[in-house]
Amino acid sequence: MANDDLTAMDSESNVPRHIAIIMDGNGRWAQKRFMPRTVGHQAGVKAVRKIVEYCATHNVEVLTLFAFSSENWRRPEAEVSLLMSLFMATLQREINKLDRNSIRLRFIGDRSAFSEKLQQKMAEGEAQTQNNKALTLVVAANYGGHWDICQAFLQMQEKMAVGELKKEDINEQLINQYLSTADLPEPDLFIRTGGEQRVSNFMLWQLAYTELYFTTTLWPDFDQNSLEDAIKSFRSRQRRFGHTGEQVLNKSVTL
Ligand code: IPE
Ligand code: IPE
Ligand code: MG
Repeated sequence: MANDDLTAMDSESNVPRHIAIIMDGNGRWAQKRFMPRTVGHQAGVKAVRKIVEYCATHNVEVLTLFAFSSENWRRPEAEVSLLMSLFMATLQREINKLDRNSIRLRFIGDRSAFSEKLQQKMAEGEAQTQNNKALTLVVAANYGGHWDICQAFLQMQEKMAVGELKKEDINEQLINQYLSTADLPEPDLFIRTGGEQRVSNFMLWQLAYTELYFTTTLWPDFDQNSLEDAIKSFRSRQRRFGHTGEQVLNKSVTL
C-alpha cells in the first residue's frame, strides 16, 4: 500500500459517528457587515450545505443541526417570521438534492407550533428520504432538551395509564427509547460556533458523554476546514467514560 493510501485511511479513521452542532453567530456575522441579522441567517444556510456535504462524504453517520430552539420564539416577530420563511424555502429547494445524495432527513422538536404547510413539508422530506443510507441529517427545530425529556415522560405516562408500562420497567435505557433521538447513536462531538460556551437547552440528556468543542468562528464562516479542526481536536482526546486513562490505553475495557 502506498504511503498516500495510508494517510488517506488514517484521516478517515476515528471519525465521530454523530456530530451535533449549535450553529450560532449568524446575527453577529451580519451586524459586523452593517447588514440586517436576516442576511446572516441566509449566509448561515450556505454554510449548512458545505458541512452536510463534508459529513456525507466522510463517513459521518449522523449530523444534528440546531436550527431553531424552543426559546427562539422570544425573538422579534419579524426575525422569527423570516426564519420560518427561510426554513420553508430551504426545504423546498434542498429536499430533492438531499435525496439524490442519499441523505436521510429527520426533524426533532415540537413541530406542532409550525404552520400546517411547514409541518407538511417536513413530513414530506422525511418520507421521501427515509430509506437513504449515506448520512442522517437531523434538524432540531423548535427543539429544547427540556421539551425532549418532558415529551418522553408524557409518552411513558400514557403507556403506564393503559398498563403497557410498569414502574419497574423504568431505567435509563427505557427513557432513552422515548427521546426524539431514540434510534440514533449519542453525539460523539458537539460543536458550538459563535464564541458562547453554553449548551442553550440542546440535547441535554444525550450530551452526557459527548466531547465539547467551542469556536469563536461565526456560523456563516464555519467551513470544511473549520470542521476538520474540530474533528482533529476530537481525535486528540481520550474518551474515558469513567475508566482510568490506563484502562483505556491497555484496551482492557470496552468503551
Ligand atoms: C444562530 O445565530 C441562528 C439561530 C438561533 C436561528 P444567532 O441568530 O443566534 O446569531 P447571534 O448569536 O445573534 O450572532
Ligand atoms: C441556540 O442559539 C439556538 C440555535 C443555534 C438554533 P441562541 O443564539 O438562541 O442561544 P442563546 O440564547 O444565545 O443561548
Ligand atoms: Mg445566538
